[in-house]
Amino acid sequence: MNFHTRKWVKPEDLNPNGSLFGGSLLRWIDEEAAIYAIVQLGNPRVVTKYISEINFVSSAKQGDIIEMGITATDFGNTSLTMRCEVRNKITRKSILTIDKMVFVNVDEDGNPAPHGKTHIKYIEEQFENEDN
Ligand SMILES: CC(C)(COP(=O)(O)OP(=O)(O)OC[C@H]1O[C@@H](n2cnc3c(N)ncnc32)[C@H](O)[C@@H]1OP(=O)(O)O)[C@@H](O)C(=O)NCCC(=O)NCCS
Repeated sequence: MNFHTRKWVKPEDLNPNGSLFGGSLLRWIDEEAAIYAIVQLGNPRVVTKYISEINFVSSAKQGDIIEMGITATDFGNTSLTMRCEVRNKITRKSILTIDKMVFVNVDEDGNPAPHGKTHIKYIEEQFENEDN
């Protein structure tokens, strides 16, 4: 799993107890998964369909640097399933895990549309024709 995006936990991200608010983290991870799906499926129109159990493994506090990791686990006909983990960038301690996040590739009318993709494409593969 590649950990791409980093966040610096700031006062506006905290709950009243002074630790990272779960809603803030879910917003970030939903956006991260959407970007991953857009890049993998080559379509800016993707929607969140399903999120499995969310395990808030440990808390983060103000000033912590966290990083978000996503990897595709299944390419369906119109869907893409991903696994997610958020961890502390410095200590590598796990903060959140989600086994399944399903995004659906949709057309202009918002209906599911086949994406035609079958495997993870890495950045080199996406641009390999442009190098030649
Ligand atoms: C996404 C949406 C277009 C799918 O419509 P649908 O009628 O469920 O479509 P389908 O039954 O054809 O399913 C589409 C894909 O989602 C998968 N899917 C459907 N329900 C699922 C579920 N509960 N869990 C996992 N995958 C599911 C199907 O297996 C299918 O995948 P496949 O084509 O790869 O086999 C529709 O549910 C929708 O618009 N939902 C709202 C999305 C949204 O607004 N998200 C933002 C949250 S605020």
